[in-house]
Amino acid sequence: MSASPQAPSAQAQSAPAVPHKRIVVGVAGGIAAYKACTLVRYFTEAGHHVRVVPTESALEFVGKATFEALSGNPVHTGVFSDVPQVPHVRLGQDADLVVVAPATADLMARAVSGRADDLLTATLLTARCPVVFAPAMHTEMWEHPATVANVATLRSRGTIVLEPASGRLTGKDTGAGRLPDPDEIGLLATLLLERADAMPRDLEGVRVLVSAGGTREPLDPVRFLGNRSSGKQGYALARLAAQRGADVVLVSGYTTGLAEPAGVDVVHVKTAEDMQSAVTKHAPQCDAIVMAAAVADFRPTTTVASKIKKGSGEPDSVALTKNPDILAGIVESRRAGRIPASSVVVGFAAETGDAQGDVLTYARAKLERKGCDLLVVNAVGEGKAFEVDHNDGWLLAADGSESALEHGSKSLMASRVLDAVARLVHSGRE
Ligand code: CTP
Repeated sequence: MSASPQAPSAQAQSAPAVPHKRIVVGVAGGIAAYKACTLVRYFTEAGHHVRVVPTESALEFVGKATFEALSGNPVHTGVFSDVPQVPHVRLGQDADLVVVAPATADLMARAVSGRADDLLTATLLTARCPVVFAPAMHTEMWEHPATVANVATLRSRGTIVLEPASGRLTGKDTGAGRLPDPDEIGLLATLLLERADAMPRDLEGVRVLVSAGGTREPLDPVRFLGNRSSGKQGYALARLAAQRGADVVLVSGYTTGLAEPAGVDVVHVKTAEDMQSAVTKHAPQCDAIVMAAAVADFRPTTTVASKIKKGSGEPDSVALTKNPDILAGIVESRRAGRIPASSVVVGFAAETGDAQGDVLTYARAKLERKGCDLLVVNAVGEGKAFEVDHNDGWLLAADGSESALEHGSKSLMASRVLDAVARLVHSGRE
């Protein structure tokens, strides 16, 4: 086993994940342009300095004054405005991040051909920072060979082109091509400020199952046994795996009302037994199974059909029955050949440590006991891991290697875990 990784320091745990940065929000002319307003808000509220650069057609949908008010900065569309400041060169050169949302088929085609006939395309040519396109268009346009080729070209040049969401488009039609939720674009884009190489397309053709959230075990129609899981870490994993090219099934228990990630199939479950059925159904088709869910270890032995009344006497005690250990069941299925031997199984451990042992001691024992390939370890307790946006911990592997997961957003943690998953999946395919 390698030397013990350093526990993240108390100072690191309180440090802001991303210092304030200069972000250019490009807006192309599509109906989803109104959602760029929420995205601008997302960045300004995080303290970033935002310049909005719409195209002329974007201003058909949202007025210049709206973008100026939301960003607190002037808005121009052409290269001949504010000439002494040379904005067509400066904005791109000075930016830490450029996010184009929505990116229309036309805007991407112009970016591919290197046009610089408006301020947005000129900015794209001069930017040397991470550039993210969040496409939004009708499904036919998204699937057209011209757009497919343009997306491939942009990606080959290092531009991040997000997978669009599926769902209701303008009018009555539905399909792939919807702009991802602005908060989701914000989360993914901000991840690039923490780690510029966090979104390689290294999971194309890889099928990933992620479980997330907490299960609820009913006692009567109004009460349940549950836990404090928000689902944020599991959703970050599913979201990022999809953006890295994977086909993702997300088996989701209860969350704090998180939006479904773009490009992910979501199966909603309630109890541990429901979750076990869904995971057992989908796992045989998957290359990686990531159990981030907080599964209740016990359920009330009986669920009462009508509300239990307070009554006047002493309260009854509640008899509990052990729930199935889903993760252990997956490892057993792999051993028995019911799921492919090459599948990669990842467990999570939330530990506090106690007088008998520290967090890592318990985690090493859990890795051994569960028999998974990787174990993501979080120290939990007051203000840590549960219901917060930042996290840190350790990644333990069955080969004995251990590494610290630095303090940062749950997206950053997800990116480190997916690096290890990608390595294991690809080494199993060699
Ligand atoms: N897990 C599971 N089924 C359960 C309980 C947990 O699949 N019934 C999975 C979790 O999704 C997680 C891992 O097992 O990936 C570890 O969960 P944790 O609650 O930390 O472990 P337990 O086995 O419950 O151990 P303990 O509560 O004793 O720490």
